[in-house]
Amino acid sequence: MHTELLPGIDWVGFVDWNIRDFHSYNTERGATYNSYLIRDQKVALVDGVKKAAAGTLLKNVRELVDLEKVDYIICNHAEQDHAGAMPALVAAMPQAEIVCTAKCKEILSGYADTTGWKFRLVANGETLSLGENTLTFIHTPMVHWPDSMFTYVPEKKLLFSMDGFGQHIASSERFDDELPLDTLMEEAKIYYANIVYPYGAQVQKVLKAAAGLDIQMIAPSHGVVWRKNLPAILAAYEKWSTKTADKKVVIFYDSMWESTEIMAQAIYEGVLSVPGVTCQMMHVRKSTLTEISTAAMDAKCCALGSSTLNGLPLPQMAAVMNYLQGLRFPIQHTVAFGSLGWGKNAVDEISAWFEKVSWTPAADAIKCKWRPTPEILAQCVEAGKTLALKTSE
Ligand code: FEO
Repeated sequence: MHTELLPGIDWVGFVDWNIRDFHSYNTERGATYNSYLIRDQKVALVDGVKKAAAGTLLKNVRELVDLEKVDYIICNHAEQDHAGAMPALVAAMPQAEIVCTAKCKEILSGYADTTGWKFRLVANGETLSLGENTLTFIHTPMVHWPDSMFTYVPEKKLLFSMDGFGQHIASSERFDDELPLDTLMEEAKIYYANIVYPYGAQVQKVLKAAAGLDIQMIAPSHGVVWRKNLPAILAAYEKWSTKTADKKVVIFYDSMWESTEIMAQAIYEGVLSVPGVTCQMMHVRKSTLTEISTAAMDAKCCALGSSTLNGLPLPQMAAVMNYLQGLRFPIQHTVAFGSLGWGKNAVDEISAWFEKVSWTPAADAIKCKWRPTPEILAQCVEAGKTLALKTSE
Protein backbone atom coordinates (compact mmCIF):
# COMPACT_ATOMS: atom_id res chain seq x y z
CA MET A 1 0.00 0.00 0.00
CA HIS A 2 1.31 3.42 -0.91
CA THR A 3 0.07 6.93 -1.64
CA GLU A 4 1.67 9.41 -4.01
CA LEU A 5 2.63 12.73 -2.44
CA LEU A 6 4.27 14.10 -5.56
CA PRO A 7 5.53 12.41 -8.74
CA GLY A 8 8.28 10.04 -7.64
CA ILE A 9 7.61 10.51 -3.91
CA ASP A 10 5.26 8.16 -2.10
CA TRP A 11 4.05 7.46 1.42
CA VAL A 12 4.91 3.84 2.28
CA GLY A 13 4.31 3.78 6.05
CA PHE A 14 2.10 1.93 8.51
CA VAL A 15 -1.32 2.81 9.91
CA ASP A 16 -1.68 1.63 13.51
CA TRP A 17 -5.46 1.54 13.86
CA ASN A 18 -5.55 -0.15 17.25
CA ILE A 19 -2.88 1.54 19.34
CA ARG A 20 -4.38 3.33 22.31
CA ASP A 21 -1.32 3.62 24.58
CA PHE A 22 1.79 5.26 23.16
CA HIS A 23 4.12 5.19 26.19
CA SER A 24 1.23 6.50 28.36
CA TYR A 25 0.00 8.95 25.71
CA ASN A 26 -3.62 7.95 25.07
CA THR A 27 -3.92 7.68 21.31
CA GLU A 28 -7.71 7.58 21.10
CA ARG A 29 -7.68 7.90 17.32
CA GLY A 30 -4.78 5.50 16.70
CA ALA A 31 -1.54 6.53 14.99
CA THR A 32 0.53 6.28 11.85
CA TYR A 33 4.26 5.85 11.36
CA ASN A 34 5.05 7.58 8.11
CA SER A 35 7.80 6.48 5.76
CA TYR A 36 8.38 8.03 2.38
CA LEU A 37 10.08 6.66 -0.70
CA ILE A 38 11.83 8.97 -3.16
CA ARG A 39 12.52 7.36 -6.52
CA ASP A 40 15.07 9.36 -8.49
CA GLN A 41 18.38 8.35 -10.09
CA LYS A 42 19.12 7.30 -6.54
CA VAL A 43 16.41 5.89 -4.29
CA ALA A 44 15.95 7.04 -0.71
CA LEU A 45 13.64 5.80 2.03
CA VAL A 46 12.88 8.60 4.49
CA ASP A 47 12.00 7.61 8.07
CA GLY A 48 11.12 4.15 9.30
CA VAL A 49 8.47 2.48 11.41
CA LYS A 50 8.29 0.51 14.65
CA LYS A 51 9.72 -2.98 14.77
CA ALA A 52 6.41 -4.80 14.43
CA ALA A 53 5.58 -2.90 11.23
CA ALA A 54 8.83 -3.63 9.39
CA GLY A 55 7.20 -6.26 7.16
CA THR A 56 4.47 -3.84 6.08
CA LEU A 57 7.00 -1.14 5.26
CA LEU A 58 9.15 -3.51 3.21
CA LYS A 59 6.07 -4.79 1.36
CA ASN A 60 5.02 -1.22 0.57
CA VAL A 61 8.50 -0.35 -0.72
CA ARG A 62 8.64 -3.54 -2.80
CA GLU A 63 5.44 -2.51 -4.57
CA LEU A 64 7.33 0.45 -6.02
CA VAL A 65 10.95 -0.61 -6.33
CA ASP A 66 13.18 -3.63 -5.87
CA LEU A 67 14.70 -3.53 -2.40
CA GLU A 68 18.23 -3.84 -3.83
CA LYS A 69 17.65 -0.52 -5.65
CA VAL A 70 17.33 1.46 -2.41
CA ASP A 71 20.49 3.52 -1.97
CA TYR A 72 19.76 5.40 1.22
CA ILE A 73 17.70 5.08 4.38
CA ILE A 74 17.31 8.55 5.85
CA CYS A 75 16.93 8.17 9.60
CA ASN A 76 15.73 11.54 10.88
CA HIS A 77 15.15 10.22 14.40
CA ALA A 78 16.26 7.15 16.34
CA GLU A 79 13.24 6.78 18.63
CA GLN A 80 11.95 3.27 18.31
CA ASP A 81 8.56 4.13 16.83
CA HIS A 82 10.55 5.07 13.71
CA ALA A 83 13.82 3.19 14.06
CA GLY A 84 12.63 -0.03 15.69
CA ALA A 85 12.41 -1.55 12.20
CA MET A 86 15.94 -0.51 11.31
CA PRO A 87 17.61 -3.92 11.89
CA ALA A 88 15.02 -5.53 9.60
CA LEU A 89 15.47 -2.78 7.00
CA VAL A 90 19.24 -3.16 7.03
CA ALA A 91 18.91 -6.94 6.74
CA ALA A 92 16.58 -6.56 3.74
CA MET A 93 18.56 -3.74 2.09
CA PRO A 94 22.19 -4.28 3.17
CA GLN A 95 23.48 -2.11 0.33
CA ALA A 96 21.68 0.99 1.61
CA GLU A 97 23.56 3.68 3.45
CA ILE A 98 21.94 4.93 6.65
CA VAL A 99 21.99 8.71 6.53
CA CYS A 100 21.73 10.34 9.94
CA THR A 101 23.34 12.61 12.51
CA ALA A 102 26.27 11.41 14.61
CA LYS A 103 24.02 11.42 17.68
CA CYS A 104 21.45 9.33 15.83
CA LYS A 105 24.11 6.74 15.01
CA GLU A 106 25.07 6.64 18.68
CA ILE A 107 21.46 6.02 19.74
CA LEU A 108 20.81 3.45 17.01
CA SER A 109 23.93 1.65 18.20
CA GLY A 110 22.55 1.69 21.73
CA TYR A 111 19.38 -0.07 20.64
CA ALA A 112 20.80 -2.57 18.16
CA ASP A 113 24.02 -4.21 17.06
CA THR A 114 24.97 -1.91 14.19
CA THR A 115 28.16 -3.71 13.31
CA GLY A 116 28.43 -3.72 9.53
CA TRP A 117 25.79 -1.02 9.01
CA LYS A 118 26.85 1.53 6.39
CA PHE A 119 26.46 4.88 8.07
CA ARG A 120 26.74 8.20 6.27
CA LEU A 121 26.83 10.89 8.95
CA VAL A 122 25.61 14.28 7.82
CA ALA A 123 26.37 17.72 9.18
CA ASN A 124 23.81 20.46 9.60
CA GLY A 125 23.13 21.98 6.17
CA GLU A 126 24.84 19.15 4.28
CA THR A 127 23.22 18.08 1.02
CA LEU A 128 22.89 14.81 -0.85
CA SER A 129 21.88 14.72 -4.51
CA LEU A 130 19.54 11.97 -5.65
CA GLY A 131 19.51 13.22 -9.25
CA GLU A 132 16.68 15.66 -9.85
CA ASN A 133 16.12 16.04 -6.11
CA THR A 134 18.51 17.23 -3.45
CA LEU A 135 18.18 16.31 0.19
CA THR A 136 19.22 19.05 2.60
CA PHE A 137 19.67 17.96 6.20
CA ILE A 138 18.69 20.37 8.95
CA HIS A 139 19.72 19.38 12.45
CA THR A 140 16.94 19.98 14.98
CA PRO A 141 18.47 18.84 18.28
CA MET A 142 15.94 18.38 21.10
CA VAL A 143 12.93 18.58 18.83
CA HIS A 144 12.43 16.40 20.64
CA TRP A 145 15.49 14.10 21.00
CA PRO A 146 19.16 15.11 20.67
CA ASP A 147 19.56 13.18 17.41
CA SER A 148 16.66 14.73 15.53
CA MET A 149 16.86 16.29 12.09
CA PHE A 150 14.57 17.45 9.28
CA THR A 151 15.17 16.64 5.61
CA TYR A 152 14.25 19.27 3.04
CA VAL A 153 13.83 18.80 -0.71
CA PRO A 154 14.10 22.28 -2.27
CA GLU A 155 13.13 21.14 -5.78
CA LYS A 156 9.79 19.93 -4.41
CA LYS A 157 9.43 22.55 -1.64
CA LEU A 158 8.90 19.58 0.63
CA LEU A 159 9.96 19.28 4.27
CA PHE A 160 10.18 15.91 6.03
CA SER A 161 9.69 17.17 9.56
CA MET A 162 10.03 13.98 11.58
CA ASP A 163 7.88 14.30 14.75
CA GLY A 164 7.42 18.05 14.20
CA PHE A 165 3.88 19.03 13.11
CA GLY A 166 2.78 15.44 13.74
CA GLN A 167 -0.54 14.16 15.03
CA HIS A 168 -1.56 10.77 16.32
CA ILE A 169 -4.46 9.80 14.09
CA ALA A 170 -5.04 6.63 12.11
CA SER A 171 -6.76 7.25 8.79
CA SER A 172 -6.99 6.01 5.25
CA GLU A 173 -6.49 9.63 4.16
CA ARG A 174 -2.95 10.94 3.90
CA PHE A 175 -3.47 14.69 3.46
CA ASP A 176 -4.72 17.51 5.65
CA ASP A 177 -7.35 18.57 3.11
CA GLU A 178 -8.98 15.15 3.30
CA LEU A 179 -9.93 15.26 7.00
CA PRO A 180 -11.67 17.92 9.13
CA LEU A 181 -9.16 20.60 10.04
CA ASP A 182 -10.50 21.02 13.58
CA THR A 183 -9.86 17.33 14.25
CA LEU A 184 -6.31 17.60 12.92
CA MET A 185 -5.59 20.75 14.91
CA GLU A 186 -6.96 19.11 18.05
CA GLU A 187 -4.69 16.11 17.54
CA ALA A 188 -1.72 18.35 16.67
CA LYS A 189 -2.31 20.23 19.94
CA ILE A 190 -2.52 17.01 21.97
CA TYR A 191 0.69 15.85 20.29
CA TYR A 192 2.49 19.11 20.96
CA ALA A 193 1.40 19.20 24.62
CA ASN A 194 2.48 15.65 25.36
CA ILE A 195 5.58 15.23 23.20
CA VAL A 196 7.08 18.55 22.16
CA TYR A 197 6.09 21.18 24.74
CA PRO A 198 9.24 21.22 26.91
CA TYR A 199 11.33 22.07 23.85
CA GLY A 200 9.70 25.36 22.87
CA ALA A 201 13.01 27.24 22.56
CA GLN A 202 14.35 24.62 20.18
CA VAL A 203 11.09 24.69 18.19
CA GLN A 204 11.45 28.45 17.88
CA LYS A 205 14.91 27.97 16.33
CA VAL A 206 13.50 25.47 13.87
CA LEU A 207 10.61 27.76 12.93
CA LYS A 208 13.05 30.57 12.25
CA ALA A 209 15.15 28.27 10.06
CA ALA A 210 12.02 27.03 8.28
CA ALA A 211 10.92 30.61 7.61
CA GLY A 212 13.90 30.90 5.27
CA LEU A 213 12.78 27.90 3.23
CA ASP A 214 10.21 27.76 0.47
CA ILE A 215 7.83 25.09 1.79
CA GLN A 216 4.63 23.92 0.13
CA MET A 217 4.32 20.55 1.82
CA ILE A 218 5.25 19.29 5.29
CA ALA A 219 5.46 15.53 5.69
CA PRO A 220 5.75 14.55 9.36
CA SER A 221 6.44 11.07 10.65
CA HIS A 222 2.99 10.84 12.30
CA GLY A 223 -0.43 11.72 10.92
CA VAL A 224 -1.39 13.55 7.78
CA VAL A 225 0.81 15.47 5.36
CA TRP A 226 0.20 19.23 5.43
CA ARG A 227 -0.29 20.60 1.91
CA LYS A 228 -3.23 23.01 2.32
CA ASN A 229 -3.32 24.29 5.89
CA LEU A 230 0.36 25.11 6.41
CA PRO A 231 -0.41 28.62 7.74
CA ALA A 232 -2.70 27.13 10.41
CA ILE A 233 -0.23 24.55 11.72
CA LEU A 234 2.72 26.96 11.55
CA ALA A 235 0.76 29.63 13.44
CA ALA A 236 -0.22 27.08 16.07
CA TYR A 237 3.41 26.01 16.52
CA GLU A 238 4.38 29.67 16.87
CA LYS A 239 1.81 30.11 19.65
CA TRP A 240 2.59 26.88 21.45
CA SER A 241 6.37 27.22 21.24
CA THR A 242 6.30 30.73 22.65
CA LYS A 243 4.24 29.35 25.54
CA THR A 244 1.46 31.86 24.97
CA ALA A 245 -1.30 31.38 27.57
CA ASP A 246 -5.00 32.05 27.07
CA LYS A 247 -7.35 33.72 29.52
CA LYS A 248 -8.04 30.30 30.90
CA VAL A 249 -8.19 28.60 34.28
CA VAL A 250 -7.89 24.85 34.75
CA ILE A 251 -9.20 23.09 37.84
CA PHE A 252 -7.80 19.61 38.40
CA TYR A 253 -8.98 17.66 41.42
CA ASP A 254 -9.45 14.25 42.95
CA SER A 255 -11.99 13.59 45.64
CA MET A 256 -12.54 10.75 48.08
CA TRP A 257 -15.92 11.54 49.67
CA GLU A 258 -17.01 14.51 47.53
CA SER A 259 -15.79 17.34 49.79
CA THR A 260 -12.93 18.30 47.48
CA GLU A 261 -15.27 18.01 44.51
CA ILE A 262 -17.72 20.43 46.14
CA MET A 263 -14.80 22.83 46.66
CA ALA A 264 -13.77 22.47 43.02
CA GLN A 265 -17.28 23.36 41.91
CA ALA A 266 -17.24 26.46 44.11
CA ILE A 267 -13.92 27.54 42.57
CA TYR A 268 -15.42 26.96 39.13
CA GLU A 269 -18.37 29.17 40.08
CA GLY A 270 -15.91 31.89 41.08
CA VAL A 271 -14.01 31.64 37.79
CA LEU A 272 -17.22 31.91 35.76
CA SER A 273 -18.22 35.08 37.63
CA VAL A 274 -15.57 36.88 35.58
CA PRO A 275 -16.68 37.40 31.96
CA GLY A 276 -14.35 36.41 29.13
CA VAL A 277 -12.44 33.74 31.02
CA THR A 278 -12.62 30.09 30.00
CA CYS A 279 -12.32 27.23 32.43
CA GLN A 280 -11.75 23.50 32.15
CA MET A 281 -12.51 21.42 35.25
CA MET A 282 -11.35 17.82 35.35
CA HIS A 283 -11.65 15.04 37.91
CA VAL A 284 -8.25 13.47 37.39
CA ARG A 285 -9.53 9.90 37.63
CA LYS A 286 -12.13 10.61 34.94
CA SER A 287 -9.77 12.21 32.45
CA THR A 288 -6.50 10.88 31.09
CA LEU A 289 -3.09 12.40 31.71
CA THR A 290 -3.06 13.16 27.99
CA GLU A 291 -6.27 15.21 28.24
CA ILE A 292 -5.20 16.93 31.44
CA SER A 293 -1.84 18.04 30.05
CA THR A 294 -3.46 19.31 26.84
CA ALA A 295 -5.90 21.37 28.90
CA ALA A 296 -3.05 22.79 31.00
CA MET A 297 -0.81 23.75 28.08
CA ASP A 298 -2.48 27.05 27.27
CA ALA A 299 -3.91 27.90 30.72
CA LYS A 300 -2.59 30.83 32.69
CA CYS A 301 -3.98 29.76 36.05
CA CYS A 302 -4.58 26.47 37.83
CA ALA A 303 -6.43 25.28 40.91
CA LEU A 304 -5.19 21.91 42.11
CA GLY A 305 -7.06 20.00 44.77
CA SER A 306 -7.01 16.62 46.41
CA SER A 307 -8.42 14.80 49.36
CA THR A 308 -5.81 13.42 51.72
CA LEU A 309 -4.93 9.74 51.71
CA ASN A 310 -2.27 8.56 54.13
CA GLY A 311 -1.05 12.13 54.49
CA LEU A 312 -0.58 12.61 50.75
CA PRO A 313 -2.58 13.55 47.63
CA LEU A 314 -4.63 10.74 46.13
CA PRO A 315 -2.50 8.55 43.85
CA GLN A 316 -3.82 9.81 40.51
CA MET A 317 -3.28 13.41 41.60
CA ALA A 318 0.31 12.48 42.41
CA ALA A 319 0.61 11.07 38.89
CA VAL A 320 -0.80 14.30 37.45
CA MET A 321 1.70 16.37 39.43
CA ASN A 322 4.54 14.14 38.27
CA TYR A 323 3.48 14.39 34.63
CA LEU A 324 2.91 18.16 34.66
CA GLN A 325 6.26 18.69 36.36
CA GLY A 326 8.04 16.99 33.47
CA LEU A 327 6.14 18.98 30.85
CA ARG A 328 7.11 22.25 32.55
CA PHE A 329 4.00 24.26 31.72
CA PRO A 330 4.52 27.85 32.91
CA ILE A 331 1.28 28.23 34.87
CA GLN A 332 1.49 31.64 36.50
CA HIS A 333 -1.11 31.70 39.28
CA THR A 334 -2.42 28.88 41.42
CA VAL A 335 -4.58 27.82 44.31
CA ALA A 336 -4.20 24.60 46.31
CA PHE A 337 -7.29 23.15 47.92
CA GLY A 338 -8.71 19.98 49.39
CA SER A 339 -10.29 18.18 52.27
CA LEU A 340 -8.46 16.49 55.11
CA GLY A 341 -9.05 14.87 58.45
CA TRP A 342 -6.00 14.81 60.65
CA GLY A 343 -2.21 14.95 60.57
CA LYS A 344 -0.26 15.53 57.37
CA ASN A 345 -2.40 16.61 54.46
CA ALA A 346 -2.50 16.73 50.67
CA VAL A 347 -2.98 20.49 50.47
CA ASP A 348 0.39 21.17 52.08
CA GLU A 349 1.95 18.70 49.65
CA ILE A 350 0.38 20.50 46.70
CA SER A 351 1.56 23.87 48.05
CA ALA A 352 5.11 22.52 48.41
CA TRP A 353 4.92 21.18 44.86
CA PHE A 354 3.82 24.59 43.55
CA GLU A 355 7.00 26.02 45.06
CA LYS A 356 9.07 23.26 43.49
CA VAL A 357 7.71 23.92 39.98
CA SER A 358 7.66 27.73 40.45
CA TRP A 359 3.89 28.10 40.14
CA THR A 360 2.95 31.11 42.26
CA PRO A 361 -0.02 30.94 44.66
CA ALA A 362 -2.57 33.67 43.98
CA ALA A 363 -4.44 33.02 47.23
CA ASP A 364 -3.99 31.12 50.46
CA ALA A 365 -4.34 27.36 50.22
CA ILE A 366 -7.87 26.29 51.14
CA LYS A 367 -8.18 23.41 53.58
CA CYS A 368 -11.46 21.91 54.63
CA LYS A 369 -11.91 19.45 57.46
CA TRP A 370 -14.43 16.78 56.52
CA ARG A 371 -17.22 18.73 54.70
CA PRO A 372 -16.69 22.30 53.46
CA THR A 373 -18.52 24.91 55.51
CA PRO A 374 -20.27 27.91 53.90
CA GLU A 375 -17.22 29.96 54.90
CA ILE A 376 -14.85 27.56 53.12
CA LEU A 377 -17.06 27.55 50.03
CA ALA A 378 -17.11 31.35 49.99
CA GLN A 379 -13.30 31.23 50.15
CA CYS A 380 -13.31 28.84 47.17
CA VAL A 381 -15.57 31.12 45.13
CA GLU A 382 -13.31 34.07 45.94
CA ALA A 383 -10.20 32.07 44.97
CA GLY A 384 -11.79 31.14 41.64
CA LYS A 385 -12.59 34.79 41.00
CA THR A 386 -9.02 35.78 41.90
CA LEU A 387 -7.60 33.24 39.45
CA ALA A 388 -9.96 34.44 36.73
CA LEU A 389 -8.91 38.05 37.23
CA LYS A 390 -5.24 37.01 37.18
CA THR A 391 -5.67 35.68 33.64
CA SER A 392 -5.75 39.29 32.46
CA GLU A 393 -2.47 40.28 34.10
FE1 FEO B 1 7.62 9.60 16.83
FE2 FEO B 1 10.04 10.85 18.85
O1 FEO B 1 9.20 9.56 17.83
